[in-house]
Amino acid sequence: MDTLLAALIGYLLGSIPFGYLLTRAAGLGDVRAQGSGNIGATNVLRTGSKKLAAATLLLDLVKGLAPVLIARALFDQPDTMPAAALGPVPAAALFAVIGHCFPVWLKFKGGKGVATNAGVCFGLAWPLGLTYAIVWLGVLGGVRISSLAGMAAVVCAAIAAAVLEYEALVPVLALIAALVLWLHRSNIGRLVKGEEPRVGARK
Ligand code: G3P
Repeated sequence: MDTLLAALIGYLLGSIPFGYLLTRAAGLGDVRAQGSGNIGATNVLRTGSKKLAAATLLLDLVKGLAPVLIARALFDQPDTMPAAALGPVPAAALFAVIGHCFPVWLKFKGGKGVATNAGVCFGLAWPLGLTYAIVWLGVLGGVRISSLAGMAAVVCAAIAAAVLEYEALVPVLALIAALVLWLHRSNIGRLVKGEEPRVGARK
């Protein structure tokens, strides 16, 4: 029951479509009709507003962080496997990302989960959040391709959970990584062809 409730909290918070709401409120139209159609910060940036993109990034991160912290505070955590891997905290984490990617409020068409998963990782364990931030910002600073940076961070967080002995978090982070990679399949296609736009370039 705790796990179901944590999943619901994760989904409800994760599904708040900040990028869509902020751009609508600012009179910039429907962000889903622009650029890649994504509601995340990268596509909000394509509307021309750096401030709204930064706000979207921050709020999407917080809506991943909050449900994990809430689940940690409210529910007892099983400490033996496999129950620990299926407990309330991993459930809140997974469903926060699912909520962002498939928000019921936008007919299940949302974002790709990168910023929300950053918040999730900081909530799960700060070394995982730190790994995520370093890889994400490092790749972004190096090549200025948002999708590549996001995918690298998501995959590295799952690997870091295994290496740093957060065994209970490996399944959920691997599942999130698989989901995020699948949602980036069109980006991967463009990356392979050398056609993925760099941050700052208009699409
Ligand atoms: O976080 C989303 C980013 O990785 C890709 O976004 O709009 O370029 O598909 P976009």
